[in-house]
Amino acid sequence: MKIRTVFAGLVAATFSVMAMAQAPIVIKFSHVVAADTPKGKASEFFAKKAAELTKGKVKVEVYANSTLYKDKEEMEALQLGAVQMLAPSLAKFAPLGVKEFELFDLPYLFDDYKELHLVTEGPVGKSLLQKLETRGLVGLAYWDNGFKVMSANKPLNNPEDYKGLKMRIQSSNVLDAQMRAVGAIPQKMAFSEVYQALQTGVVDGTENPPSNLYTQKMHEVQKHVAVTNHGYLGYAVITNKKFWDGLPADVRSALETAMAESTKYANSIAKEDNDKALEEVRKSGKSQIAVPTAAQKLALKKAMVKVHTEMAGRIGKENIDAIYKATNFDPSKL
Ligand code: LMR
Repeated sequence: MKIRTVFAGLVAATFSVMAMAQAPIVIKFSHVVAADTPKGKASEFFAKKAAELTKGKVKVEVYANSTLYKDKEEMEALQLGAVQMLAPSLAKFAPLGVKEFELFDLPYLFDDYKELHLVTEGPVGKSLLQKLETRGLVGLAYWDNGFKVMSANKPLNNPEDYKGLKMRIQSSNVLDAQMRAVGAIPQKMAFSEVYQALQTGVVDGTENPPSNLYTQKMHEVQKHVAVTNHGYLGYAVITNKKFWDGLPADVRSALETAMAESTKYANSIAKEDNDKALEEVRKSGKSQIAVPTAAQKLALKKAMVKVHTEMAGRIGKENIDAIYKATNFDPSKL
């Protein structure tokens, strides 16, 4: 009887050791946007690639639409190890202590994705990701979303149109300065709260790439959309350094490959997704879409571009100069 009990115990222990050996490493990947957006799709793509390339040793669980954490909470959760991966907007890194990421928010700094990639793939982009290490994080990649439109219940094609409007922004001081530059009153707010704030009139308007506007149904509570393309919104995929360094080397290397492939995928769908979303907003007939004329665009640009000098102390004049050089931009020539 006694021998049988010992034997049964041994068998159970062996099985549980085997189960433990086979239990996958779980990566909780939390984000705040809809699944059907460039970031939503890229994180699902990464989950698939990670399972494939690690042969099932890693299981990535994606939590979209702030279902697990909102903006601020997800940052805390990553640092505490409650989630292992995030892809916050570059406008949200100041609370982590790397406020230089706000350079990506500077209005009218990038004309297109090509110029933007010169920075994300160049020395400035790389040095920003490296700075995260001092915060206990690892920056794995930049993922594109797109160029932002403005929305409100009135047209927003001229600088004067913004005067006195309460505009929701992400938690970036550069975006705060940008809205003030056209006389608006910026309101920092979590992404998950924007739709309701627009619907109830807590704020009058907002800015986002069309993919976010459309998938959050913001166009249903905003009568006008101006395709200003005044600024860029994209992401840095980040992980907890302790977690990342603690992974078996073969797993980490497979995940790096999965991330590189996901980045290619993310950046290949971003523009098309945003173009399609804008088309859907147009088709819905709920918002009127206007493209500012060349003269209106120039007026908006002149009003907003002064933010570059205003914010140089915060994000580093040397960073701004390096970007001007890479993109061949000279604000004095406007
Ligand atoms: C926002 O808060 O407007 C964006 O950062 C949301 C996102 O992650 O694209």
